[in-house]
Amino acid sequence: MGRVSPTTPDLVHHADSPESPWWRDAVIYQIYPRSWADSDGDGIGDLPGIIDHLPYLRDLGVDAVWLSPFYVSPMHDAGYDVADYRDIDPLFGRLADADRLIDTAHDLGLKVVVDLVPNHTSSDHPWFQEALTAPPGSAERARYLFRDGRGPHGDLPPNNWRSVFGGTGWSRVPNPDGTPGQWYLHLFDTTQPDVDWDNPEVRDEYDAILRFWLDRGVDGFRVDVAHGLVKDPALPDTTGSMHLTENPVGHVMPMWDQDGVHDIYRRWRAVLDTYTIPGDPDSQRILCAEAWVRPEERLSHYVRPDEMHQAFNFPFLETPWDSAAYRHVIEASLRSNDAVGAPTTWVLANHDVIRHASRFGLPQDGQRRNGIGAHDPQPDAALGLRRARAATAMMLALPGGAYLYQGEELGLPEHTTLPDEVRQDPTYHRTLGTDEFQRGRDGCRIPMTWRHDQPSFGFGPGANTWLPQPDTYGDLAVDRQDGIPGSTLTLYRDLLHYRRKHRFGHGSLAWDSLTSTTVLAFRNTSGDGTRTALIVTNFGPDPVALPEGDVLIASGPLTDDGAVPTDTTVWLRLPTTQEETR
Ligand code: NOJ
Ligand code: MG
Repeated sequence: MGRVSPTTPDLVHHADSPESPWWRDAVIYQIYPRSWADSDGDGIGDLPGIIDHLPYLRDLGVDAVWLSPFYVSPMHDAGYDVADYRDIDPLFGRLADADRLIDTAHDLGLKVVVDLVPNHTSSDHPWFQEALTAPPGSAERARYLFRDGRGPHGDLPPNNWRSVFGGTGWSRVPNPDGTPGQWYLHLFDTTQPDVDWDNPEVRDEYDAILRFWLDRGVDGFRVDVAHGLVKDPALPDTTGSMHLTENPVGHVMPMWDQDGVHDIYRRWRAVLDTYTIPGDPDSQRILCAEAWVRPEERLSHYVRPDEMHQAFNFPFLETPWDSAAYRHVIEASLRSNDAVGAPTTWVLANHDVIRHASRFGLPQDGQRRNGIGAHDPQPDAALGLRRARAATAMMLALPGGAYLYQGEELGLPEHTTLPDEVRQDPTYHRTLGTDEFQRGRDGCRIPMTWRHDQPSFGFGPGANTWLPQPDTYGDLAVDRQDGIPGSTLTLYRDLLHYRRKHRFGHGSLAWDSLTSTTVLAFRNTSGDGTRTALIVTNFGPDPVALPEGDVLIASGPLTDDGAVPTDTTVWLRLPTTQEETR
């Protein structure tokens, strides 16, 4: 009866078993702790603020939260520079607050994923401090990548690697007697020395850190720079850009995506699996890779059955607004991950990229932009929001899991006119005045907007915010959108509700014949075959007529005669099965 059968020629992906574990179709909401909710009025979000607002996430309909780092840190990279992996920075609260956060989330039916930063520590970490006072060749230095410099006096860095944040990737330290000494590698800021993953002591330490948080009840880890931990041991000079996200296909960079990283993830998977309660898939703890790796097939190596559970689909995030480009990336991702039995993890936004409500309002020329400043060409806000809503409606109909970034459910744009003097991202300061100049990531990290009529838009009790909020955030506040038909918040709630109700995250995917150079159309059929939705996204100028069926949801108004206008996504329930018509 119309059910998509396994022999359908355009079937790209089979449905998952309805009993599969929670993470395979989970929608996980990223909280950037310093910017979500501030309880004490210091202008910086904190754990008590998060706890107070967790019911909002239950009502939104997500399955889990991922928290960016909240550990003790000098905050040179907003906490991605960890000085103590086993405690909370006083800015955010105390360890007891983390425990209460985990318990409260669990009581609300939300899982908790925390951030693990294993590529580097902070230079304030006791290990690095010990390394500085220890001699070359010592066990203390062997936890990091210390090397002698080149040139007759060792004045030149050991190789030509650049920092992802701009400038050289090496810094020189003085010897205990004050004379110039060795150099250490830092792929990011000078305050983020890379650790040496060939050192067994390093491996043991991070196992212990995993256990520390697993014992406290976290449900998983998002793994920072997962493709960077292992370096080619020869540390050879390299050609090409060092940008974290630029790992060109067919060009193996000596610091990115080295095969040796996979041993680490096998080891961690074994640790996590000891926490699974037999017969209870809900107890599974997960690992999610932040790996900027291409092509999709290389990325799928991170989610082989004995490695991580999820890997962010950054090729999807970087896809320009184009039907054929989406068709290609969706198909390539599903096929690569199906080959290893893993779900695909869709994502459109995070704390490192321009918010998609603004990104889609820029020229879709495939060019990466690192932030937007007041004197740069400004995005078309209305166009960007319209496309962002259509993109999210498409994404949440795809089989697999998905991550959302705080505020996207309100349609928040990037802050594109931040005064340069308030910028805090180290990439801005490290590249200022150079030809690597990056405006930086502050514009996507602006504090949340909860109440339109309060100072700091309800972010905190007073007016303080660590970065200024744009005026436009007032009308986008939660209280302005809550329960309002057509608002972006209502759209997200509806999408998450239907997705969960019909288990579209576990469904199959087949291309529909409406697909063309300007239309992306696919069918998602639930594993038991009882529901098929047709999802249509119109990238072209002309409205697209729909076949017979009930419109479940639309990312924007339809035309008067019920067609899908430009830059709009519709979910249509098709009258397909006997069960449904009963
Ligand atoms: C990726 C994180 O998402 C980013 O915010 C951070 O700056 C780098 N890794 C370095 O830890
Ligand atoms: Mg605070």
